[in-house]
Amino acid sequence: MTAVPIKTVIIHGQSHQGSTCHLARMLAEKIGGETTEFFLPRDFGKFCTGCTTCFVKGEDKCPHHADLAPITEAIDAADVIILASPVYVFHATGAMKNLLDHYGWRWMAHRPDAIMFSKQGVCIATAAGAGVKSTLKDMEHSLFYWGVGQIEKLGMGVAATDWDGISAKKKTALEKKTAAIAARLKFRAGRVTPSLKTKAMFGIMRMVQKNGWNPLDVDHWKNNGWLGKARPWKQERK
Ligand SMILES: Cc1cc2nc3c(=O)[nH]c(=O)nc-3n(C[C@H](O)[C@H](O)[C@H](O)COP(=O)(O)O)c2cc1C
Repeated sequence: MTAVPIKTVIIHGQSHQGSTCHLARMLAEKIGGETTEFFLPRDFGKFCTGCTTCFVKGEDKCPHHADLAPITEAIDAADVIILASPVYVFHATGAMKNLLDHYGWRWMAHRPDAIMFSKQGVCIATAAGAGVKSTLKDMEHSLFYWGVGQIEKLGMGVAATDWDGISAKKKTALEKKTAAIAARLKFRAGRVTPSLKTKAMFGIMRMVQKNGWNPLDVDHWKNNGWLGKARPWKQERK
């Protein structure tokens, strides 16, 4: 276990404090340390314009760069990134999807940040009944392609529309699941090595960048030494 307190950021895919929010906070409490929270769209609601400026000219040229900065900084500073969304028509909320759209540039296919590979992520979703799996996948896709080293998932069909409506039995099960996930996160903290799947995907993207079409992306890979022998998970931890 690391002696340094774990920094957690929770990105809530909704602006109200219902079942999903309670569940994310239950996990954060068990992780301990310092937690920063953002609620969407309350804390960021600008829609991606599809200009592709982030990809070809730089993420700092995104028309929403300044509005997004507090969330980006919190994600970059965190050891654990929790993405939590209720299931809306079998998927993550539009607000969550919109936030993740703004980070397309940091997918491994473009300009992943070396610091991601030593972070851990958790995807959380609650549904009344069905759609948890596809919703967790919506969020897992981004964490995985950002390069986040280890990813946990926690979802449940809670048979309720708010926290008070969830049965005591289900809440007990959620207490147990969050305790198990928190224990794993704390065990790995400070010594995260990315999964084999992440390393394999990085290898594929590295081959793609050897003949990359976007000079900004190719320069990023070259400057990090990743087209040579350097690898992000071997770079000094920040
Ligand atoms: C617009 C909307 C769409 C929903 N779609 C689904 C769905 O596809 N499947 C489901 O089981 N529940 C669905 N629900 C119910 C919520 O996912 C469920 O009650 C969830 O636990 C609410 O979490 P919250 O309290 O954090 O908002 C939907 C609710 C809303 C408001």
